[in-house]
Amino acid sequence: MRGKWHVLGALPFLTLFFLFFFFFFNLHIKTTLLSDNAVLIPPANPPAEFSLLIGILTRADNYDRRHFLRLIYGIQSSPIAKIDVKFIFCNLTKEEQRVLIALEILRFHDIIILNCTENMNSGKTYTYFSSLPRILPHHYNYIMKADDDVFIRLEQLASSLRPLPRADLYYGFVIPCASKNPFVEYMSGMGFILSWDLVEWIGESDIPANNREGPEDKLVGKWLTMGNKAKNRFSDKPAMYDYPGANGKCSHDLIPETVAVHRLKRWDRWLHVLRFFNVTKGLKPSKLYHID
Ligand SMILES: *[C@@H]1O[C@H](CO)[C@@H](O)[C@H](O)[C@H]1NC(C)=O
Ligand SMILES: *[C@@H]1O[C@H](CO)[C@@H](O)[C@H](O)[C@H]1NC(C)=O
Ligand SMILES: *[C@@H]1O[C@H](CO)[C@@H](O)[C@H](O)[C@H]1NC(C)=O
Repeated sequence: MRGKWHVLGALPFLTLFFLFFFFFFNLHIKTTLLSDNAVLIPPANPPAEFSLLIGILTRADNYDRRHFLRLIYGIQSSPIAKIDVKFIFCNLTKEEQRVLIALEILRFHDIIILNCTENMNSGKTYTYFSSLPRILPHHYNYIMKADDDVFIRLEQLASSLRPLPRADLYYGFVIPCASKNPFVEYMSGMGFILSWDLVEWIGESDIPANNREGPEDKLVGKWLTMGNKAKNRFSDKPAMYDYPGANGKCSHDLIPETVAVHRLKRWDRWLHVLRFFNVTKGLKPSKLYHID
């Protein structure tokens, strides 16, 4: 009996002791972490000079293509730009999409579903640009619209944008293919970039709102010309082009300074391109895989 009372009597002191110990230990861990961080943070990379959102217009059902493109862009980055890649499609139409796309969003956070009906040349590009200022959590310096059959080299793309104006800019591969004059017509839908002010203008002006029917890339050029916008235009030739032999004067051989190659609709073309640009050269030998 005496022993039991003794232990119970000591309980408050023990509790106090553990509380004190816990508090002190916690504090110690926090300060250690803080000072470690203080040493680790300063020499990190310089901040990005500008930001770019690449929206790849695709369809909800193209699961395999998205999976592949996530690999292609997931292994690339640029030291000078903050680049986000997202997949853009219109309203979901099938029951299974609501579950499968929800899984993708939970896992990858890289999908934007616009309020539109999937249909070539009926305003998806308009909905894309005009919705962004309302729906994005923050703005970007540049917004790109890209196809899902184009290979974009992010480092080269960022380097080509670096010296260009951050405002009133329309960048891409000018049509007609043989032309080098960026003011002649419009930039090909394979991949073109607008500065943020032009994206806001598309969302606010009546000109795009009243001219939504037609080939989407051509329309964007038309809006900008009608609105007397995009005084700064840049056609990135020969760094952007269609796959060799795929499309007449829009095509030429693969070249080292490439920014984007378009019309990669077949695996043999993707393989050729990925090999040419040494995309998998970084793979280190390992006992875990026999790859030769
Ligand atoms: C979506 O688009 C439809 C048809 O254009 C429109 O009636 C509706 O208000 C839009 N919904 C939202 C949330 O913007
Ligand atoms: C897209 O889906 C939403 C929600 O189901 C609907 O309110 C809207 O009208 C649809 N928009 C179009 C353009 O079909
Ligand atoms: C790919 O690697 C080879 C061999 O190292 C090199 O000669 C070639 O220039 C590289 N190609 C590109 C596009 O960087």
